[in-house]
Amino acid sequence: MKMGLLAWLASPCCGEPMRYARLDRMPDPKADIEDGALACGSCRCEYPILAGVPRLLPPGEADRRVAATSRSFTWEWTRYPGTPAEDERIFLEECQLEPSDFKDKKVLDAGCGMGRYSLAAASLGAEVTAVDLSESWAALVPVARETPSLHVVQGDLLHPPFQAAAFDLVYSHGVMHHTRDTRQAFLAVAKLVKPEGLLSVWLYGKAGRFADFATNPLRPDRVWVGRHRRLAWFVVGARHIVSDILRVFTTRLPLSLTYLLCYPLALLGALPLVKYLTFSVHPRFRVRLVENFDWLSPPFQYHHTKEELAAWCEAAGFDVVRFLPHGLVPKPGVLARKRRR
Ligand SMILES: C[S@@+](CC[C@H](N)C(=O)[O-])C[C@H]1O[C@@H](n2cnc3c(N)ncnc32)[C@H](O)[C@@H]1O
Ligand SMILES: [Zn+2]
Repeated sequence: MKMGLLAWLASPCCGEPMRYARLDRMPDPKADIEDGALACGSCRCEYPILAGVPRLLPPGEADRRVAATSRSFTWEWTRYPGTPAEDERIFLEECQLEPSDFKDKKVLDAGCGMGRYSLAAASLGAEVTAVDLSESWAALVPVARETPSLHVVQGDLLHPPFQAAAFDLVYSHGVMHHTRDTRQAFLAVAKLVKPEGLLSVWLYGKAGRFADFATNPLRPDRVWVGRHRRLAWFVVGARHIVSDILRVFTTRLPLSLTYLLCYPLALLGALPLVKYLTFSVHPRFRVRLVENFDWLSPPFQYHHTKEELAAWCEAAGFDVVRFLPHGLVPKPGVLARKRRR
């Protein structure tokens, strides 16, 4: 952990600024802290720094499903083979931002997973803090040691360990629907954005009301979906029901068994048409394997509409800049700007 990060941190117990604990003197401002402790400036809570990462999870025993979420994503991301060539392109598309939007900005990757998009943002000139509940960032830590503009934190988006308005830009891609309460996670993360700063979020979608589905922004190449909205709506609803039934079992199995079940799904994912019955159609087998697991294993998986996202933006004091265009299955995604105070 770099000393400079301390200025942005806040305690997950009560939101107060943090200080170094159990140190006779302040370390060199340029030093990296490998092992140590931070303390809340207000109460007596202490948080360890282990292997270079401040562990800023809320005090107390984690809920059983939160602990399972953490285990599931640590399993997943430490097995993901990575697709570096694709990452920056997908990241920019999903953020709905230009490369120049990152230059010299303080950025938070909220729910960073293995950190593929933290690396993309850092390479575009941002100072990036990558935070995740799980230890999915294990492979990112050695990179952060060598990269002055990259920080790694363990934290929970429902109790984010950062000061309000600390960041120019916060993005959270495919994360909040895996927390206990998507709306609460959105509102907690939105507080971290500076006035006039940007927030980019996307969530899992659902069919919802047909009237809302019919106005979803579509990618220009999804002509079929545009022409057959009613059928598309039905397919999305049916797919959702099937997946919810499967997940009653797969979220309760040992991780290794769920992963084993993903092998046949990953094989089917290579077959024309049949592949659409699985949860990944990526051309690489190992990516399909992990993406199927990503769908079937995590305990929390909520689905939302762009109308919900728009209402949360309003509640948090943001103006919607634009919604993310997508394919058949809605992917409610928003780029929003925080209003001036
Ligand atoms: C599907 S992954 C997405 C990772 C990354 N954004 C990406 O697209 O590569 C979801 C991530 O959310 C994290 N996550 C789930 N609940 C969280 C919470 N309450 N606080 C922080 N991170 C959380 C998981 O550990 C996981 O790494
Ligand atoms: Zn405290």
